Order: sequence, then C-alpha cells, then structure tokens
Amino acid sequence: MVNYKDLGLVNTRDMFARAIKGGYAIPAFNFNNMEQLQAIVKAAVETKSPVILQVSKGARNYANQTLLRYMAEGAVEYAKELGCAHPEIVLHLDHGDSFELCKSCVDMGFSSVMIDGSHLPYEENVALTKKVVEYAHQFDVTVEGELGVLAGVEDEVSAEHHTYTNPEEVIDFATRTGCDSLAISIGTSHGAYKFKPEQCHVDPATGRLVPPPLAFEVLDAVMEKLPGFPIVLHGSSSVPQEYVDMINQYGGKLEAAIGIPEDELRKAAKSAVCKINIDSDSRLAMTAAVRKVFAEKPAEFDPRKYLGPARDEMEKLYKHKIINVLGSNDKLANL
Ligand code: G3H
Ligand code: 13P
Ligand code: ZN
Repeated sequence: MVNYKDLGLVNTRDMFARAIKGGYAIPAFNFNNMEQLQAIVKAAVETKSPVILQVSKGARNYANQTLLRYMAEGAVEYAKELGCAHPEIVLHLDHGDSFELCKSCVDMGFSSVMIDGSHLPYEENVALTKKVVEYAHQFDVTVEGELGVLAGVEDEVSAEHHTYTNPEEVIDFATRTGCDSLAISIGTSHGAYKFKPEQCHVDPATGRLVPPPLAFEVLDAVMEKLPGFPIVLHGSSSVPQEYVDMINQYGGKLEAAIGIPEDELRKAAKSAVCKINIDSDSRLAMTAAVRKVFAEKPAEFDPRKYLGPARDEMEKLYKHKIINVLGSNDKLANL
C-alpha cells in the first residue's frame, strides 16, 4: 500500500474548492509517455498552475500502470527541480471501469480516481460509485463519478449517442454516492471528431465549420440543484485547426476534425466546472510536430530530433490552455 501523500501528490478537494470560488478550472491532461509528462509539468510550473495528470485505460495498456505511477512520482520531483517549491499535482485514474481497478490505483498511490458508471443503469451506477467512494475515502483519495453519456469514439471510451445529464438525478446521485466531483454530459465528446459537418455552420469570416453550442442550460440546471459542487467536463479538446492543417500539409489525412470552441470552454471554466479534460489536442500537437520534422528532414532518425519539437509544441499548447482558456495560472496555494 503506497499513500499518495508520501509521494508529494495531492487530491482534488482543496484545488476544486478554490477553482469554483475563483471562477477558473484545473487542467486535466492525459499522459502516456515521458515527453507528454515533461511538457505538462513544465507548463504547469512555468504558469504556476495546479495540474491533474490523467492515466486512462489506454495509457495503462500502452505504458504500464506501475511505470506511469513512478513517472508521476518523478513529476513532483521534476517540478521542484524546475523551481516550484510547492507543486500541486494530482495523479488521477481516468475512466476507471471497475471497483477492482479503482482499488488497485488507490493502493498504488493515485490521489484521485474516476469511476465511470455512466453506461450502467442508474441504480448500478450509484452502487458502484458508492463502493469506490467508501474505499477511496479511507485514504483521503477523491472520487469523480459520471452521470449522462458522452457521444464519440476514442479507443477505450466510446458511445454512439450521447444522453445529456438529467439534472433531476444529480442531488440523489451526489448524496447517495458521496462522490467528490461529477462529470456531466452537455454535448462534449471524446476524440477529434466531436461533431458531424452537417451539425455545423460555416463561419463566413474564416470559412471554418462552427459547431452547435453546448447545452449550457443543462449545466445551469445542475448548478442550481447542487450549488458549489465540483463539475467536470470530459471531451474538451478544441481540435486547433492549425494542427489539423499542419498534419494534412505534411502528409496526414484528418478530414472535418472539429472540437469545442475555446470561448465555450472559457465560459464553462468560470462556472462550477472546475476540471476540464484535454487529451486529443495534445495528440494533435505531437503528431503535427513529428510530421513536420519527417517531411522537412527525411534523413533524420534520432528520435530526440522529432520528439523534442513535439514536446515543445505540447508545452506551448498546455500553457495556452492554462493561461488563455482555463485561467488556472498563478493559482497555486503557495506561490
Ligand atoms: O477519455 C479518453 C481519453 O482521451 C483517453 O483515451 O484510452 O485512448 O488513452 P485512451
Ligand atoms: P478529448 O478527447 O476531447 O481530449 O477528451 C479527453 C477526455 O475527456 C479524457 O477523459
Ligand atoms: Zn473522458
């Protein structure tokens, strides 16, 4: 049994309370490899932001959960070495799908877990989430639950059709499960294809597709039922069109990739939404940078020469999200 506090990690409770009060959101960035982790930690340190490192089922399969846990432990020391005396880093299980998995993450030093029972019948979701909360809270590990189903397809997380969260259920769910935060469905979805072109209209100024707005009325109704309760948005990549263009320019083939406009995320971050999940944008930044090097320097074969620029591009992206979208810069408890 490893306690996250001994690793220098923190849970989400205090940072979420401050984020709701301060009208900003904490970034939750997924990581699968060293370059992503370095970029996330550097961006968080340089912007003085708390940060959530997310490990998904796909990441565990790809990189090994034990190795990722040690990398997160290393992240705390790396942040200190970069000059941050009191980093606030959460190690979070993203989309946990069973009690056993959540328990194993709690036992190996995660400071926060998500139990995603959103695909289950309501009563089963309540029972599973409550079981995870009862276990995790013994060790002061915070738990994210989910109500409502996100559309979209992304490797391990898929749902053909979304169902918005029913605001009538949130009080009962939060009270009976004791969860610390709640992921809700208001029209975001996982991956780089969040909307079909026929759902969008064309912006005459840019010629780009503009997606339909998120269901802010659902978010408002949830906040009315649960005032001050931490809300989480999954599927919140914006799919920057510069990266899509760059990928296509250098031999890729991404057609009609569409994300959530940053204005909508800025608006959400000012509300009770205090955790915003971003993964796909980092994948796009990395792919664009690597493709550029491969196209411009076909003789290059030192991985550092293409993963280095990819890391720089991701760091730039993470800083942009923190400063210009989520507003979590300069929000460490001990600056
Ligand atoms: O929510 C999904 C995340 O983007 C992680 O996806 O399981 O492919 O790592 P993944
Ligand atoms: P994106 O695919 O929009 O980056 O969402 C990531 C996510 O929700 C991880 O849980
Ligand atoms: Zn997600």
